[in-house]
Amino acid sequence: MASPVKSLVHDDERYQKAFETYLKLSNKHLVEEEFFNNTLPDILDSIGNGKPQINVIGVGSGEGINDMKMLSQLRRKYPGLLLETEVVEPSKRQINKFREKAANSSDLDPIKFIWNQMTASEFEKQWRLRKINKKVDFVHMLNMLYYAEDPGATIDFFQSLLDKNGKLLISLVTNESGWMILWRTFHRELRPQKTDVSFLNTAHIKKLLDERGVSYQTYNLLPEFDITACFTEGDETGELLLDFLTETVNFSKTAPPELKHRVLKLLRDNQCSVERDGKVLFSIEQEIIILEGLG
Ligand SMILES: C[S@@+](CC[C@H](N)C(=O)[O-])C[C@H]1O[C@@H](n2cnc3c(N)ncnc32)[C@H](O)[C@@H]1O
Repeated sequence: MASPVKSLVHDDERYQKAFETYLKLSNKHLVEEEFFNNTLPDILDSIGNGKPQINVIGVGSGEGINDMKMLSQLRRKYPGLLLETEVVEPSKRQINKFREKAANSSDLDPIKFIWNQMTASEFEKQWRLRKINKKVDFVHMLNMLYYAEDPGATIDFFQSLLDKNGKLLISLVTNESGWMILWRTFHRELRPQKTDVSFLNTAHIKKLLDERGVSYQTYNLLPEFDITACFTEGDETGELLLDFLTETVNFSKTAPPELKHRVLKLLRDNQCSVERDGKVLFSIEQEIIILEGLG
């Protein structure tokens, strides 16, 4: 039977509106920024030791909001060193937004950008074809591995590029986050045509690394997403949030009422959310995994 609901990926305008509403009502970027300011400098403490230049790669950088923050940190930490960063991002719109911001930011002035509008695996092919032997000091992939064809191979490749003191930073949601619980519960109803759903999260990555005997460090981030408006029937913000959470166009109006009832019930359940100061705060817990260079 055809699914009664339409995926949000097929409606770019609605997706952008829903995504902007999500950003306004979540403290994700703030919590990430705290991590970049307070913890990342220690993690990257030795990457520049004895070097004239630091090489960075951002994979799936989007429009570069987090890249700019991390690069500013590196700029402050290593004021005299040259900084070169490769940006790997397949979306033309996103990479263009990033280019524009980078061009207008004086904070990033002495940084050399190399723009690669392509996927991580296309970048890997190009790197091998050109037999590039540059060593890299810092690779980051924030919330990007969900889209990789083969997350294990992607990690292997980028880790192999690291210099001795280099670091690879991966971030994904955790197995216990509200996202994972919601999607594990409802994916058959929301996307009946999709059978190969893996719900990649940090538990998969850590299992894979443990099986390979690769050592790593982890840091938990606990951002929240204010979904209170979802529970007011007819509220426009609430409808956009529900679309974002269920990745569905007009979920409130198109989903069978009984499915909508169960989704709302789970969203409010303490497996997914906490209630504080009259707000329902949905867990978007993330974990950062740090790998070392192989030497
Ligand atoms: C959820 S966004 C994360 C953006 C950014 N890293 C952040 O943390 O805000 C995922 C990004 O990965 C990009 N992406 C999707 N498939 C990719 C692939 N195969 N290789 C590299 N990037 C990819 C998307 O275009 C998108 O910009």
